[in-house]
Amino acid sequence: MEKVKLGIIGCGNISGAYFKGAQAFEIVEIKSCADLNMDVAQAQAEEYGVQAVTVDELLADSEIEIVINLTIPAVHAKVSLQVLNAGKHVHSEKPFGINLEEAAEVLAVAKEKGLRVGSAPDTFLGAGLQTCRKILDDNWIGDCVAGTAFMLSNGPESWHPNPAFFYKTGGGPMLDMGPYYMSALVHLLGPAKSVTGIAVKSFDERVAGCKEHFNERLPVEVPTHYSGIIEFVNGALITVIISFDVFKHSLPRIELYGKEGSLAIPDPNTFGGDVKVFRPGNEDWEKVPYSHLYSENSRIIGAVDMAHAIQTDRPHRCNGEFAYHVLEIMMAFEKSNDCGGKYQLESTCEQPAPLPLGLLQGLLD
Ligand SMILES: NC(=O)c1ccc[n+]([C@@H]2O[C@H](COP(=O)([O-])OP(=O)(O)OC[C@H]3O[C@@H](n4cnc5c(N)ncnc54)[C@H](O)[C@@H]3O)[C@@H](O)[C@H]2O)c1
Repeated sequence: MEKVKLGIIGCGNISGAYFKGAQAFEIVEIKSCADLNMDVAQAQAEEYGVQAVTVDELLADSEIEIVINLTIPAVHAKVSLQVLNAGKHVHSEKPFGINLEEAAEVLAVAKEKGLRVGSAPDTFLGAGLQTCRKILDDNWIGDCVAGTAFMLSNGPESWHPNPAFFYKTGGGPMLDMGPYYMSALVHLLGPAKSVTGIAVKSFDERVAGCKEHFNERLPVEVPTHYSGIIEFVNGALITVIISFDVFKHSLPRIELYGKEGSLAIPDPNTFGGDVKVFRPGNEDWEKVPYSHLYSENSRIIGAVDMAHAIQTDRPHRCNGEFAYHVLEIMMAFEKSNDCGGKYQLESTCEQPAPLPLGLLQGLLD
């Protein structure tokens, strides 16, 4: 198998997971990394045995086929466009963009240039969510009629070293955590058709708790509590709360309710977690063993899938149309709020193919 050479732009907090993750997959090799801050690029390059280069040098390197974009959300689309315009495929961290216009531009440029574009999250390729998909596809719980998706916390400002951006345009709980929940749901159920939602800003300012910005006031520009219902094309109605305004709760993360049983889905921000099924006749939930590999942190698997897909000429699973649809679902809560009614989604996507059973560790084809 020919190795696909990767470059990483953005060498901050999450980049270590990608450098480590790459070591588990035969098909990829990270050749070089870049960041506006050369010191962090140099530090990661030394730790993981790759080259630190400038962004321009990385984009000019003809050996690099796929660039992984690990910059901050506000510049995801801008950096992805830079990569595409340099003639390379790009896989971006989430969200795919901070508005639909810039995300659409990324899709259009990729199409025009015949290049691939993809986006995190790729947690739905992990053991937990692939096992859930197998259970649904094998019809253990029958047709899905309803479900819940709950992500409630009191926000990241108590611990995050630079929390201000979470409350500025492009931040908020929906764009930060929503991608995990919405991607998991579209992977499990297929595309959605409408959203009825309300989005509110419960506090005008938040207070930083980290030592770097202790007691600093953080103005809130975005909604911090979202509640609503997503209607899927297959008929399932999913009740959603995504919030940074809640100190404590006892709600599950995601559950799906079918005509013949129920499925409890693990935290979609992880690759593993407990998968549980209830069917009539059982006394309680039953834990189900994984059908697939990758229950440990395997961030980068989406870009690895893209590398395999290029070599075998098949669609990659974390693709741009999927990410765009997920972004439209997230944006639709505010659109529904503003129009005071049900918002019909304009985009759709293919449900990504499940990973086959019986793959060897490190191979996705
Ligand atoms: N930190 C996490 O736990 C985590 C988890 C999952 C996903 N993510 C996502 O990963 C992305 C990065 O998060 P992070 O926590 O690593 O952020 P970070 O702020 O630690 O790192 C981002 C890096 O990108 C660099 N950068 C910014 N603009 C750039 C540009 N135009 N060109 C080149 N480099 C640029 C910055 O200098 C910085 O080093 C975000 O989209 C975030 O949502 C983060």
